[in-house]
Amino acid sequence: MPDSSIVHYVTPEHQNSISLSDFVIYYNLNKYIVDNKMLLKINKKLLFAIFMIVITKGFAQIRTEIRPTEIWPDEQGAHIQAHGGGITKVNDTYYWYGEERRQGLDSGKRYVSCYASKDLMNWKFCKDVVQMADPNGQGKGWILERPKVFYNSKTGKFVMYFHLDNKSYKTASVGIAVADKPDGDFTFVKSFRPLGHESRDIGQFIDDDGTAYLIFEDRPYGFRIARLSDDYMNVEKEICLIPQHMEGGAIVHYQGLYYAVGSALTGWAPNANKYATAKSLAGPWSEFKDIAPPETNTYGSQSTLLLKVTGTKGSSVLFLGDIWKPKSQWDSRYLWMPVEIGDGKLWVPEPKPFSIDVKTGLTSE
Ligand code: GAL
Repeated sequence: MPDSSIVHYVTPEHQNSISLSDFVIYYNLNKYIVDNKMLLKINKKLLFAIFMIVITKGFAQIRTEIRPTEIWPDEQGAHIQAHGGGITKVNDTYYWYGEERRQGLDSGKRYVSCYASKDLMNWKFCKDVVQMADPNGQGKGWILERPKVFYNSKTGKFVMYFHLDNKSYKTASVGIAVADKPDGDFTFVKSFRPLGHESRDIGQFIDDDGTAYLIFEDRPYGFRIARLSDDYMNVEKEICLIPQHMEGGAIVHYQGLYYAVGSALTGWAPNANKYATAKSLAGPWSEFKDIAPPETNTYGSQSTLLLKVTGTKGSSVLFLGDIWKPKSQWDSRYLWMPVEIGDGKLWVPEPKPFSIDVKTGLTSE
């Protein structure tokens, strides 16, 4: 007997007088049609599922490498907005904070984004942890740039330093905002000139012993390195003034030597960034030398951080730079590259895609 669930699409004219062979044909024909309809239905579902997988995978692609200079999509597929940024590691998670410069923001406010990653290649957008209106009368066009977050394990607080200025960069101060968690809302606390000095571009450095330092550009004098207070809420002690006019300051401690990198003062336009070395943060510091072929202007980028990644097999140092696009800041790119470093030499090789294994501390092309 035919399956009662079969819908009879083909009806014999004289159902009562149907022969056995007619019936078999009729039954098979119906079954064929129904099977195909079902197949079509199943296929449609399957196609839809594959389509969805492709769509979501396309956006949430697992990245196995960092591709300097290119659009860098976060896990939702949007270009990462963390310019002039810094990295803070808490347990096994890296947090990347930076200037949020996506289109459509409230022009009276300044925003700092926070992204999280366990491998430095795939970043999840947490949120804009700062969405601040002019905190203390800097006026229209006020500046919040180069946010850097220090995690204080004694107080459990996340302390953000940023360059706070007015439109014409005359305030030259740092601002501090604090949160209880890495992706928490940061609340503005205060602003000041560190140790009474002018401060524009800032950088962060945490030594191997955990001591936290602020690097800041003091226009009349040069590049200053100063230690933060125990609770990180103040800039407490000057460690060194390098009488070199440099910004975008970054420092790494590698195999017993400190390497300081900085950029010349050419605004958004790239220049040939340079480095010097010293056995102690207090100096004496060597002469400054190029970190890349000078004619490339650091491959079009400007330093923001030197990130040391130490794993089971060694340490890699990444140069983190910004490729600024002043007229379309949201499209500004990143130049992250492992540097060749050791014995007093530091060199950023020509940018190319690389991957990093945060467990071993090694990078590979
Ligand atoms: C650069 C600085 C940037 C931004 C820019 C404005 O020198 O590194 O953070 O301040 O100038 O022109």
